[in-house]
Amino acid sequence: MTNSKIAGIGSYLPDRIVKNQDLTKYLDTSDEWIRERTGIEERRYATKHLQTTTTLGTEAAKIAIERAGIQKEDIDFIIFATLSPDYYFPGCGVLLQRELGITNTEIGALDIRNQCTGFIYGLSIADQFIKTGMYKNILLVGAEMHSMGLDFSDEGRGVTVIFGDGAGAVVLQPTQKEGQGILTTHLHADGTHAEELAMINPGSHGGYHVGTEKYGYPDPSVPGGVFVTQKMLDDGLLAPNMSGQLVFKTAVAKFPEVIREALAKTGYTTADIDIFVPHQANLRISQMVQKLLRIPDEKVVNNIQKYGNTTAASIPIALCEAWENGRVKDGDLVCLAAFGSGFTWGSALIRW
Ligand code: ACO
Repeated sequence: MTNSKIAGIGSYLPDRIVKNQDLTKYLDTSDEWIRERTGIEERRYATKHLQTTTTLGTEAAKIAIERAGIQKEDIDFIIFATLSPDYYFPGCGVLLQRELGITNTEIGALDIRNQCTGFIYGLSIADQFIKTGMYKNILLVGAEMHSMGLDFSDEGRGVTVIFGDGAGAVVLQPTQKEGQGILTTHLHADGTHAEELAMINPGSHGGYHVGTEKYGYPDPSVPGGVFVTQKMLDDGLLAPNMSGQLVFKTAVAKFPEVIREALAKTGYTTADIDIFVPHQANLRISQMVQKLLRIPDEKVVNNIQKYGNTTAASIPIALCEAWENGRVKDGDLVCLAAFGSGFTWGSALIRW
C-alpha cells in the first residue's frame, strides 16, 4: 500500500528576538509571570510591513523543497495552514504559489483554518490525496505572523505574551516502503466552545454576536453591514480572546486521548514512541501531557521557550529543529499531537 512520507522539512524564524522583559515596555507583565505560567522566555517577531505570513511560509517552503530533492515546479498541491493570513481573502496558498514563482496552473492551493491543529489537519488531508494517487509532491506549510494581530494593551496581556511568529513546511511524497511514512491520523472537533479561544472580529456576524448586541451592530433590520464596526475599534475588539483555564483543562484531557487513539489504531504503546512533538501551546500543558503518558524527557520536543506559541507553525518548526539536531532518525516512531481553537484536536503517528 502507498503511504505518504515527509521527504523534506524546513522552518523559518524571523531574526528579531523579543524577550519577556521587552514586553514589559508595552504591557503590565513580568518575565517571572510569563515563565511560570507558560515556560516562554522569548519569541520572534517578523518585520512589520516587510514580512507577512506568506513570506515567512515561503522561506520555510524553499528549504523543505530543497531537502526533498525536488524543484518547485514538481509541487502539485499546496496546503497552507494559518490563523493570521495576509488577507481576509484570498488565502495564503495562492500567495505562496506566487511568492515561490510557481507558474504552473495545474496545481491546487488549499487554505485551512484549524489554528493550532492546522498542521495535523493538513497532514491528514495530504495523506489522503497521496494515498489515492492524486498527488505526488504536496507542499504543506504552517505559518503565523501573530505579532500584527495581538493586543498590546494591558487588557490583551494574557494572550499577547504567549504568541510568536514563525513558519514550518514539509514536502509529502508517496512511499512504497513497507511500514514507512504516515501510519495514521486522527482528527476531532467540538464547536461547543468556539468563542472561548477565538478572534471573532471581523466577521459576517457584523458585530451582532450570538444574539446579543454586545459588539455594537447598529440596526439588524437594515440590510447589509460591515465586517468592522466603529464600536469594535473603539472597544479594542479586534484581537484574540482566550478562556485560559478552560483551554488548559481541555487540552490536557484531549492530548492524551487522541494520542492513545492513534496508538490503539496501530497497535503501539506509549513506550514505542521514539519522539513526541506536541503542538507548542504552553510548556505546562506539554509537561502535564508528558507526565500523564509517562514519556521520558529525552523523547519530548519542547522549544516554546525560544519561540512562544506559533500555532499552525509550531509542530513543523519543532519537528524540523529536532530533525536538524539528529533527534529524529530513520525508522523512528514519531508522534505528533495538537489541540486548539474550535476546539479541534488531532494526532499523527509517522514511521520516519
Ligand atoms: N502578566 C501579568 N499578569 C497577567 C498576565 C500577564 N501577561 N495575564 C494575566 N495576568 C493576571 C490576570 O489579570 C490575573 O490578575 P488578577 O488575579 O489580579 O485578576 C492573574 O494574572 C491571573 O490570571 P489568570 O487568567 O487567572 O491566569 P492563569 O493562572 O489562568 O494563567 C494562562 C493564564 C497562562 C493563560 C493559563 O490559563 C494557561 O496556561 N492556560 C492555557 C492556555 C494556553 O496556554 N493557551 C495557549 C494558546 S491556545 C493553544 O495553543 C491551544
